Amino acid sequence: MASFIGDITFLEGFDLLQELPKKADVVLSDISPNISGIWDLDHARQIGLAEGALKIAITVLRRDGSFFIKVFHGDLLKDFMKKVENYFKFVRIVKPKASRKKSSEIYFLALGFKGN
Ligand SMILES: C[S@@+](CC[C@H](N)C(=O)[O-])C[C@H]1O[C@@H](n2cnc3c(N)ncnc32)[C@H](O)[C@@H]1O
Repeated sequence: MASFIGDITFLEGFDLLQELPKKADVVLSDISPNISGIWDLDHARQIGLAEGALKIAITVLRRDGSFFIKVFHGDLLKDFMKKVENYFKFVRIVKPKASRKKSSEIYFLALGFKGN
């Protein structure tokens, strides 16, 4: 199995597909910044990272592949969801039982990658 570690915000010039034996069925992201406690800042940083995860998903997923990603509630969420919807046929917000009720984290379940 291919394995690599890197900063999701610095992928320019890095050929992810070359690292994989074939296009991916699923991209899962639990990415999160170090939490500062300043809500707007943490939200903005997390969405920045989520955008990086979306870029990866778009690059490596096969057509009809799936994307599951953690995001935090906040002002930027709607726009990010719209971006995800541009690329997937079905997008829903889900809150798995394992996620603490008090936590502001939610997940996007995106199915049916439309392809590039
Ligand atoms: C909530 S933890 C996820 C833990 C993971 N589910 C696990 O079991 O190891 C968030 C992760 O996002 C990673 N992360 C934060 N910023 C990143 C970045 N720019 N590039 C890649 N990973 C990053 C952190 O290193 C951390 O491991």
